[in-house]
Amino acid sequence: MKDLARPNIHDLAVYKPGKPIEEVQRELGLGEVIKLASNENPLGPSPLALKALEAAVPEVYLYPDGSAYRLKQVLSNYYGGLDPDRILFANGSNELVQQLSLAFLEPGDEVVAPRPSFPRYEPLARMMNARTVDVPLVDYRVDLSAMRRAVTERTKLVYICNPNNPTGTIVTKAELNTFLDGLHENCLVVLDEAYFEYVDDPSYPDGLDYLLQGERRVVVLRTFSKCFGLAGLRIGYALADPEIIAFLERVREPFNVNTLAQVAAEAALQDQEHKQRVVELNRREREFLCGEFERLGIEYIKSEANFILFNAGRDEKEVFQGMLRRGVIIRGGFGYRTWLRVTIGTRDQNEKFIEALQSVLTEG
Ligand SMILES: Cc1ncc(COP(=O)(O)O)c(C=O)c1O
Repeated sequence: MKDLARPNIHDLAVYKPGKPIEEVQRELGLGEVIKLASNENPLGPSPLALKALEAAVPEVYLYPDGSAYRLKQVLSNYYGGLDPDRILFANGSNELVQQLSLAFLEPGDEVVAPRPSFPRYEPLARMMNARTVDVPLVDYRVDLSAMRRAVTERTKLVYICNPNNPTGTIVTKAELNTFLDGLHENCLVVLDEAYFEYVDDPSYPDGLDYLLQGERRVVVLRTFSKCFGLAGLRIGYALADPEIIAFLERVREPFNVNTLAQVAAEAALQDQEHKQRVVELNRREREFLCGEFERLGIEYIKSEANFILFNAGRDEKEVFQGMLRRGVIIRGGFGYRTWLRVTIGTRDQNEKFIEALQSVLTEG
């Protein structure tokens, strides 16, 4: 059978998502389990989105609007009248990474990405027989000067995950400006801004500003999975030059964004209060967790997102398992021997996480 599959996918790793709650309950016979592993939103979606979903359920026998016309209008207004031709929705922003690969990568092209970062940039490039160039983080930050040095004439895509997953650190406007300065025209700079809504740091570059200033090489990826609490519906979007969007349209499956995702996203965009509640909870709880890490003498990386990378000081796999046995799912496997990532939850969840972590670190 091996000869059937394209050689370049033979040793691609299968993506391992954060463990689902039910699986942990089943496998370990646990009652209450909390999941702080996939950077989901602990408050869930806006009540307006839930209401819109209920109303739309009877419509699911119809195909969705493939062009997401109404949602595009709403998002265009949300961004102050952005040209709808600069917007493309997808089945999660993850799908846009795949579309970028399909539309732009030829065998032998190069893709530059930080490491560790969101783990889909590399396999989706290799699937197209492109060469991936990983640039290690420095001090847990994306090293844009090293990434710039890694760019060659063959580089077609550069991924900048900002804030970076799993570290939560950002690149600044000044760093991004230097990076873009003199970069060749045949290269797209993909700003993956999945955690955009959570950022407080004023030096953070808003990718959309670059587009509005006429920077045609920038592609911005954002999502409804995080701050808007719609991860299970799968919807994200790209903001880019209309010509780039038109190429992505050519490789897009006709009905890639389902009806329920479209109506929920539309309603979610209209509930600014809920969004504000989510961002404020995250800000408050980020501070709480940092305070707890300090109290316990646990090293951590200051985060601009809804997760924190911390140093358990023990083998990360053992800590992960110990936490699991105590009913708390977190995430490791980033290539750091003793570091793991926790998603910021509600106060109750965060207290349970800290309690379990203390217990793991004292009792094993
Ligand atoms: C940096 C980053 N980009 C993209 C995604 C994918 O998000 P979506 O649910 O929109 O596919 C994630 C999800 O964890 C992420 O962390």
